Amino acid sequence: MNDRSHITILRGLLSGLSIADNSRILDAGSGKTSLSTIISHFPKASVDAIVYPGDERKLKTIRNMQSDRVNVVEQDICNTPIPDHYDLVVAHLLLGEARKFGNSFQDLLQKLFSIQSRYYIVIDYLEDPKVDADAIRTYCEATNFKVQEYICAENTEPQVWDDFVGVHNFGFLIESIV
Ligand SMILES: C[S@@+](CC[C@H](N)C(=O)[O-])C[C@H]1O[C@@H](n2cnc3c(N)ncnc32)[C@H](O)[C@@H]1O
Repeated sequence: MNDRSHITILRGLLSGLSIADNSRILDAGSGKTSLSTIISHFPKASVDAIVYPGDERKLKTIRNMQSDRVNVVEQDICNTPIPDHYDLVVAHLLLGEARKFGNSFQDLLQKLFSIQSRYYIVIDYLEDPKVDADAIRTYCEATNFKVQEYICAENTEPQVWDDFVGVHNFGFLIESIV
């Protein structure tokens, strides 16, 4: 793994999915890294890119990508239901930001899985105290979701954040079984 294992994990989990069967994708908690990885992996898919309202850190860069396959949406996933159905929902470093925007981890997790989709990818830092990887697995086991793949990888260089040092990233590929 290289020093940004969350990207390697995202690529690895996407590579297990059929390109033909995934044409409607939601990048839940979007940013340049996840969005560019998704649109290059699925060259024909249309992608909704959800960002927390007014989060200019991310809005500027994803608008600059100017892809006609990308629809940028400013919406709080916890406050407004998402009626659309997707083939795949990607939550790449989303859950660790729940509290930053006044939501709880558990609420954001539940709202994420209330979005209609066949597959979900959830990636975060194992050491992030705001994220609970076991709670994701427990939530899936208690509901209609099956963990198809779990990857945990060590960063070559630990990623230093304000409240933790990210040594490992984890990623789940989850399938809806209803
Ligand atoms: C750390 S960034 C992840 C960026 C992106 N996935 C990437 O690879 O660059 C977290 C993202 O989640 C979004 N976010 C956090 N809480 C949210 C919420 N409740 N509803 C919608 N988006 C949210 C932020 O606006 C931001 O786009």
